[in-house]
Amino acid sequence: MENKVLIEEILKSIIIPKFKKDIITLNIVKNISEDDQSIKIQLEFPESIGKVENEIKEQIEDAIHSIEGLENKKVITETLVSVKANQSKKNILPNVKNVLAIASGKGGVGKSTTTANLAAALSQNGAKVGILDADIYGPSIPIMFGIEGQLFADENNRLIPHEKQNIKFVSVGLLSQNKAMIWRGPMVHQMVHAFLTQVEWGKLDYLLIDLPPGTGDAHLTITQTAPITGAIVVSTPQNVALEDAKKGIQMFEQVQVPILGLIETMSYFICDNCDTQHDIFKTGGTEDLAKQQKLTFIGKIPICKEVVITSDSGMPVVFSDPKCPAAIAYLEAGKKIMDLVENKASTSTQFSMDW
Ligand SMILES: Nc1ncnc2c1ncn2[C@@H]1O[C@H](COP(=O)(O)OP(=O)(O)OP(=O)(O)O)[C@@H](O)[C@H]1O
Ligand SMILES: [Mg+2]
Repeated sequence: MENKVLIEEILKSIIIPKFKKDIITLNIVKNISEDDQSIKIQLEFPESIGKVENEIKEQIEDAIHSIEGLENKKVITETLVSVKANQSKKNILPNVKNVLAIASGKGGVGKSTTTANLAAALSQNGAKVGILDADIYGPSIPIMFGIEGQLFADENNRLIPHEKQNIKFVSVGLLSQNKAMIWRGPMVHQMVHAFLTQVEWGKLDYLLIDLPPGTGDAHLTITQTAPITGAIVVSTPQNVALEDAKKGIQMFEQVQVPILGLIETMSYFICDNCDTQHDIFKTGGTEDLAKQQKLTFIGKIPICKEVVITSDSGMPVVFSDPKCPAAIAYLEAGKKIMDLVENKASTSTQFSMDW
């Protein structure tokens, strides 16, 4: 087809704001065909795209009409119905306004600490918050909040989360059968799926999901099952962590989960004695990565001994020592996340509900 290459080229200029990628790269354009009178474009949108669909169609029409010789051709855009399991996501977590997945490629970079403190920051701002500790291999959220005692189910066999500081919790660390075990793929799926579908969260503004490190079975189940508003990728400034963070970003892009932004943890250290900033693991690499990938940079969290002490004693630093520089940084990051989520809601109505 003589104009196909030209059309494809011009369609690369149409960007989906939520994914910051063009519609050809995102594989939204499935087919381009042409006859004497018209050009037909078949599209398959990811479910999470919301209202933007019509705007994209208008942009496609304008773009094609801007090609010399095609100004007067009729442009027909046709949406193919996706048969992906995405449809069923709508019924998962119906009372949760926003689901945020906290991820990192590399382990030990401060993902759980970030989940705990962001939850505290969002809660301090008046939001109703829950944490789903999906790190079935090494659940640390119960320790960070000092929660003990096993979870029980209600009469409908739905798990009742624990609650502390107005935050609700579910973790494999709170199940009676919690012991060191070898998780096989299907078991991971079953456990994570149950956590997503069988918990009585009540109404929540934010559910934060603390993911295990890497890009494994749990990630797959969560991204395929949960209506994720946005992923937050955590990294330290070291190259080894940043390389793994890139893999995490790629994973979310592949499964078409929008990335809300990147956070740099253990970014720098301010010494008690000399009051100077020491860049122990270097600094700024995560912000550079965000720029490179055209993603939002949410903020830098410094290294503070209070973070370690307060996490180990069961109360995240945002609650126990709000003046510590890391707590201040987490509170700012929490505000930024609320802004980002609100902006998203104005371009996509999919995951926001009014009550
Ligand atoms: N800003 C900080 N300042 C000082 N120590 C920190 C900071 N953030 C995290 N830590 C410490 O780093 C260690 C690892 O943090 P954390 O458990 O949150 O990482 P993680 O990415 O969840 O690890 P895993 O991949 O094992 O789940 C913990 O001992 C934690 O207290
Ligand atoms: Mg962790």
